[in-house]
Amino acid sequence: MTLGIGINFACTIDQISRFCYSRNSTSETTSPGALDIIASTLETAYMLACSSALAQLERVRQQTERLCEPLETEDYCIQPMLDASPPKWHLAHTTWFFETFVLKHAVANYQVFDSAYEYLFNSYYEGIGTRHPRSDRGLLSRPLVGEIYAYRKHVDDALQSLLAGTPDTECLRRIELGLHHEQQHQELLITDLKCNLGRNPIHPIYLEKPSLLVQPTSVQTTFIEHSGRMLEIGAELNKNPFCFDNELPRHSVWLAPYAIADRLVTNGEYLEFILDGGYETVSLWLSDGWGEKVARGWISPEYWFQEDGEWLEYTLHGVTPVDLESPVCHVSYFEADAYARWIGARLPTEFEWEAAAQTADHGERGTFAEDGHFHPRPQSPTFCGDCWQWTSSSYAPYPGYQPLEGTLGEYNGKFMANQYVLRGGSCATPVSHYRHSYRNFFYSKDRWQFTGIRLGRNLDN
Ligand SMILES: [Fe+2]
Repeated sequence: MTLGIGINFACTIDQISRFCYSRNSTSETTSPGALDIIASTLETAYMLACSSALAQLERVRQQTERLCEPLETEDYCIQPMLDASPPKWHLAHTTWFFETFVLKHAVANYQVFDSAYEYLFNSYYEGIGTRHPRSDRGLLSRPLVGEIYAYRKHVDDALQSLLAGTPDTECLRRIELGLHHEQQHQELLITDLKCNLGRNPIHPIYLEKPSLLVQPTSVQTTFIEHSGRMLEIGAELNKNPFCFDNELPRHSVWLAPYAIADRLVTNGEYLEFILDGGYETVSLWLSDGWGEKVARGWISPEYWFQEDGEWLEYTLHGVTPVDLESPVCHVSYFEADAYARWIGARLPTEFEWEAAAQTADHGERGTFAEDGHFHPRPQSPTFCGDCWQWTSSSYAPYPGYQPLEGTLGEYNGKFMANQYVLRGGSCATPVSHYRHSYRNFFYSKDRWQFTGIRLGRNLDN
């Protein structure tokens, strides 16, 4: 299987523009004919970008609603914990993002759907104003689910009208960002829903398990060796025109010799850690990790439980025996770190991970959201899909990092403290949203995302 085509249209105009002018700059004067060609090329690129934006807008917005089709009205309002938002909130907040950062910016006299929504569905943008407390998102029985779907249609109609006109490139950039933002929330919608249903003692099924034509097979782990070298890390705009600001700028990093596993740690391997007393051996754990383990009563990954001596786990496709060949998931950074110490390895840095993923990329991938199988599956060697992978790298700005201008600058930059970087995407990540330079980030105690483990090792110089 190969990686899908990502969402990127706004940057295409910039690239063509740069190309035209760089070609033209080789001559001392610009002939009228050359100017006509440049203008015509740019106009064609602009029209293509608008039609691409329209198609991708429809696809992404419909996909969010498709994910909600299996839900009943009662499911839309549950907030199972502080970090996990109700489906209704995700549907509204992604719409609020387009209304706030695109329509209010680009459409003169835009009529908001409901003036109260700015307060209700602002997530964390201080520059926009005060907002409804995150802890209380599950207390909103009103607005009704039907009203939220009407809100989505109101905003979709306005965006379609905007794209049918002559939006500027800044507007296209914001729509592109809004689509990637919505895809991020598609993943959160799935993981937050799992948190809700997985904590329900009757373990409701979200979707019947799909029958997939291709079933990857698990293999023995091989450690891929990399020599010490200086290399470039970060998004390559000529390969992936869209990226978040935290993937830039591309910069040089020195890597000492290292080895990295060609697949994720499996449930069977993690079970050996449990059976060997991994959760009772304080010397394996970071101090803060041991504190969390004790306070939260961790004895296994999230969603695992025992019945008649057998390990079972809740999945969005129902309760199933723990599959020993599948990647272990729903572990915290602390558990990943303790496991790595137990096995005599370590977690890779995010730079080691990215360099290895780029080198090993022959188009293979694990499970992504488009597969409709919202649980990790046994893997062939690959670096992406199935589970986000904890790295040992703290989430920090790259040298020379510049957040987006204005209030959108709050999107990523202000979270660069006390979190760890995860790489690789998961079975709930849309593959059209993925690239190897993607930096996800969560707190070290977090377990409700599809988070797994890839091992790294030092090599002698
Ligand atoms: Fe958001």
